[in-house]
Amino acid sequence: MMGSFSVKPVKVGICGLGTVGGGTFNVLKRNAEEIARRAGRGIEVAQIAARRPNPKCETGSTPITADIFDVANNPEIDIVIELIGGYTLARELVLQAIENGKHVVTANKALIAVHGNEIFAKAREKGVIVAFEAAVAGGIPVIKAIREGLAANRINWLAGIINGTGNFILTEMREKGRAFADVLKEAQALGYAEADPTFDVEGIDAAHKLTILASIAFGIPLQFDKAYTEGITQLTTADVNYAEALGYRIKHLGVARRTEQGIELRVHPTLIPADRLIANVNGVMNAVMVNGDAAGSTLFYGAGAGMEPTASSVVADLVDVVRAMTADPENRVPHLAFQPDSLSDHPILPIDACESAYYLRIQAKDHPGVLAQVATILSERGINIESIMQMEVEEHDGLVPMILVTHRVLESRIIEAITALEALQDVVGNVVRIRVEQLN
Ligand code: HSE
Repeated sequence: MMGSFSVKPVKVGICGLGTVGGGTFNVLKRNAEEIARRAGRGIEVAQIAARRPNPKCETGSTPITADIFDVANNPEIDIVIELIGGYTLARELVLQAIENGKHVVTANKALIAVHGNEIFAKAREKGVIVAFEAAVAGGIPVIKAIREGLAANRINWLAGIINGTGNFILTEMREKGRAFADVLKEAQALGYAEADPTFDVEGIDAAHKLTILASIAFGIPLQFDKAYTEGITQLTTADVNYAEALGYRIKHLGVARRTEQGIELRVHPTLIPADRLIANVNGVMNAVMVNGDAAGSTLFYGAGAGMEPTASSVVADLVDVVRAMTADPENRVPHLAFQPDSLSDHPILPIDACESAYYLRIQAKDHPGVLAQVATILSERGINIESIMQMEVEEHDGLVPMILVTHRVLESRIIEAITALEALQDVVGNVVRIRVEQLN
């Protein structure tokens, strides 16, 4: 079968032989024949740059260097695969590879979200492809689905569980009642967490991925600095349980929504009705829901990280690049789905101009009339209450937890209401506020 490919194999260089690099090497080797049947040519790993061997890879006679720039400057290599992570060195490596006329495949979400505009401009100048399917949601081909599969649609919104570590933590908190810090340690041991785990739990990793998704969904430049990011570190098991009692699950969601005023780009804990498919995405799994005017809602689910799931996306990009190498640059799929001269300047909205429903937890003294005062504060600001639940007096502090879910309202309006609620004499401490999305 392999003999039917008369064209010479395409030579690729892998920079970084960690989890994803090792997985990419192994998948390319194991599935070489299937991959060549798809690409129309063989794909040969001609060089690897790695600081140390990966015990899960038998690299055999493949040349190995310790210097990633050896790969970027190797005249034999057609495609550089950047799997070192981080912003600084990865940016230099990718720009150098592009400068040398090489195509690039990367799994680096931080790099694309922060430096993507610069990188794609340079790639256009040099007529090369930069492919990044593995940067978002590991093994789920969601970039391709939005960029190509949904190309007919005006996309209205998308919402995703796009950080496996955070989702694992929330799942354990809900299912086993475990505390946040305890679960985080286990998530780190599982190997999914970022080098700096605050990237996972503070939503930075998810914001990188959301920035990329929003660009290809709406045809806007990458604007990571305008994404609103709120982490899961303040979530308590009490709120997880109250949400459950109201028929919701709490998920750390990335939401991008097109409105007339601008685009909402936000990552935060979110209550989702428990019967939505996406509310039942558990553990380290990822899922992205995309709502388009023609297709309606679609849902993409799978492993969001890990050795071979991520390698699956890297290798799919390689196949795409190999097929498109001989096409004129203007006949290739644009990096950000829309033609570069057709990107829109529709602004990213600041968070106080975003609209959402809200879950509020108020700790009140057990006095008559408190509920009436709370209701007055909300109604004076035009905030409609969807449901309300008053719990029994807590034995340890004598306070009554009051749980409310509002209808959709501007963020600035709810902040105003919370300030007024916290000023009430019978309200103790801060009001807990978590956004609610119906996703219908
Ligand atoms: N730290 C990321 C996660 C890895 O937990 O999802 C994949 O990007």
